[in-house]
Amino acid sequence: MTFAGKHALVTGAGSGIGAALCRALDAAGAHVVCTDVDETAAGRTAAALSERARAAPLDVTDAAAVQAAVDDVVARAGRIDLIFNNAGIVWGGDTELLTLDQWNAIIDINLRGVVHGVAAAYPQMLRQGHGHIVNTASMAGLTAAGQVTSYVATKHAVVGLSLALRSEAVPRGVGVLVVCPAAVETPILDKGALGGFVGRDYFLQAQGGRPYDADRLARDTLRAIERNKAVLVKPAVAHAQWWFARLAPGLMNRMSMRFVAGQRSRQSRDTPSSAADAG
Ligand SMILES: NC(=O)c1ccc[n+]([C@@H]2O[C@H](COP(=O)([O-])OP(=O)(O)OC[C@H]3O[C@@H](n4cnc5c(N)ncnc54)[C@H](O)[C@@H]3O)[C@@H](O)[C@H]2O)c1
Repeated sequence: MTFAGKHALVTGAGSGIGAALCRALDAAGAHVVCTDVDETAAGRTAAALSERARAAPLDVTDAAAVQAAVDDVVARAGRIDLIFNNAGIVWGGDTELLTLDQWNAIIDINLRGVVHGVAAAYPQMLRQGHGHIVNTASMAGLTAAGQVTSYVATKHAVVGLSLALRSEAVPRGVGVLVVCPAAVETPILDKGALGGFVGRDYFLQAQGGRPYDADRLARDTLRAIERNKAVLVKPAVAHAQWWFARLAPGLMNRMSMRFVAGQRSRQSRDTPSSAADAG
């Protein structure tokens, strides 16, 4: 596939990986609609790109709005070539700290947001006879570390959805790729912390290294689309962890327990309230 002249819609494009996907698509000559619930952020992403790019506000939890955004691309261009269901949030910390509202918010954005994108774009892509659906999951969709339980649940669902859909879609001309990075250098690493959880430390220790570069991941993603890959896992160490999790799931789970225990003792050491309690 060449991206020049293609029409793409990206969700969660105001920051991080979504913004990087917009930059990569724009550099490759595509027409990109940069969408985000944060309209100003989406506008900032689009403003830094060529005149082919435009911004639009879009909350992925609103199915009708996602459908309208896809319909708008089709009305203008006659087709939609690519959709990137990328918007996402994370909650980090012990699972008992999560409220039901927080559970519902992450399911609505990370899972229903992807469902809304698929429901809006896939029938149109089938009618066209071509298209590519790219869902941003995570390593958390392939392995199951504690303290990000709600995130793991939604990302496993996105991996399952993507692989199942792919088996139906590819024979009918529509590609499906699920992107599963470990930690990537974006603001999400500093968001969604509950009870002394430090996301950046957690994710970096889990993968044993520095965060991956978002622009590099975006370029990897375009290459994976060109090759019609099913799953993209980055960086290489995450790929090795994925193999290990499949070969020895019980051992992987015991390692995860040790990891969580280590994190929990660091959190209780570092949070002022527990320090006061201890004193
Ligand atoms: N950064 C990482 O380490 C990492 C690793 C694996 C997977 N991911 C996934 O990558 C995707 C992008 O995350 P990121 O790291 O770029 O985070 P980010 O916080 O930098 O960007 C996420 C964007 O999503 C937008 N958003 C949030 N709720 C929305 C909604 N309801 N509708 C539309 N947009 C909404 C935010 O405004 C933000 O601009 C997410 O699905 C995330 O789970 C991130």
